[in-house]
Amino acid sequence: MLTKDEILEKLKEVTYPGFTKSIVDFGFVKDIDITEDLVYVEIDISSSAPEVKQQLEDEITKKLELLKIKKFDIVIKTPTIPPRPAPTTKNITTGIKNFVMVSSGKGGVGKSTTTANLAIALAMNGKKVGLLDADIYGPNIPRMMGIENEQPEIEDNKVKPILSHGVKVMSMGSLMEEGKSLIWRGAMIMKAITQLLRDVKWGELDVLMIDMPPGTGDAQLTLAQNVPVTAGVCVTTPQKVALDDTKRSLDMFEKLNINIAGIVENMSGFICPESGKEYDIFGKGTTDELAKEYNTKVLAQIPIEPHIREGGDSGKPITFYKPNSQSAKRYLEASEKLWDTIEKINKEGKADNASIQPTTPPGVSACSTNR
Ligand SMILES: Nc1ncnc2c1ncn2[C@@H]1O[C@H](COP(=O)(O)OP(=O)(O)O)[C@@H](O)[C@H]1O
Ligand SMILES: [Mg+2]
Repeated sequence: MLTKDEILEKLKEVTYPGFTKSIVDFGFVKDIDITEDLVYVEIDISSSAPEVKQQLEDEITKKLELLKIKKFDIVIKTPTIPPRPAPTTKNITTGIKNFVMVSSGKGGVGKSTTTANLAIALAMNGKKVGLLDADIYGPNIPRMMGIENEQPEIEDNKVKPILSHGVKVMSMGSLMEEGKSLIWRGAMIMKAITQLLRDVKWGELDVLMIDMPPGTGDAQLTLAQNVPVTAGVCVTTPQKVALDDTKRSLDMFEKLNINIAGIVENMSGFICPESGKEYDIFGKGTTDELAKEYNTKVLAQIPIEPHIREGGDSGKPITFYKPNSQSAKRYLEASEKLWDTIEKINKEGKADNASIQPTTPPGVSACSTNR
């Protein structure tokens, strides 16, 4: 008779759809029960997308058949409601009311710029805001927020975030040795994230904005799984060639059952600093279609503006230093839309026009394969 370990070993060959990590490594295999005439396998995933569930079921079936198991029962449990900040389960930082993940399909699109300016805009709107730089590949929030040379203080065995432009900031960069690039494995990311959430004195926050690493790999998934995410924001540029990357990023949110609060179209047109006139450069508007496709909305179209780049380089974010500029006004407006969506999600469990719906009725949702 087969042992549990042998079955587990085989299940390590089943990767989570869209990722390179296996369902075993993600900790999704919850139970394996072997009796004389039946092998029972229980999987618990964080996505309620039916195609993810189906794909996993097919893959697992194949593997169990390879082991020559005649009769098995695969139960795949999915969330019946979108994940909410649940202090008793995932939220190890109970003072933080909401978590917003800002992601992009690739680097260089203005993800950090957007996260920093949205955080400041939220703070200017009276919210208590934290900004977590979780971009392990290029943690550049400290520079953008003008705190590059500041060292966080330690208080009661906890690291105090650095207050900058009304926002409490902490960066993954402070956990890394300068100039050393690390190859981040899932376990390391989890440890770093746990540290950044648990061992940082965030205090009470209305929202923690998280500047995610670019892309949609294991690092992002690990992060998303260890933080009770309220909503996701996707940053993109309007070129048609960016579409595929952006879709992957939006797919990731869907796969992880994260409510998409909206898309920020960055580098959307150019505002001439002399005339104030706006020019279309990359072809605005592609994001509108994308938003429709994903049942979400465009939070803002931020033009290419030299002041944005200068503000980022010099640690003087435009929203704070030029609040009357076109771009700052758009960040402020976007932050209001974002906040409205967060409130809506907290009240109703989903964004106003989010596509994420429970795919099964409340209670245990299981797909059972009995043969
Ligand atoms: N709307 C914009 N106008 C002008 N420069 C911008 C704009 N958005 C971002 N930048 C600049 O582009 C570069 C990349 O932006 P960044 O936020 O670091 O991207 P990411 O975090 O996605 O890698 C930075 O130098 C930033 O100042
Ligand atoms: Mg960045």
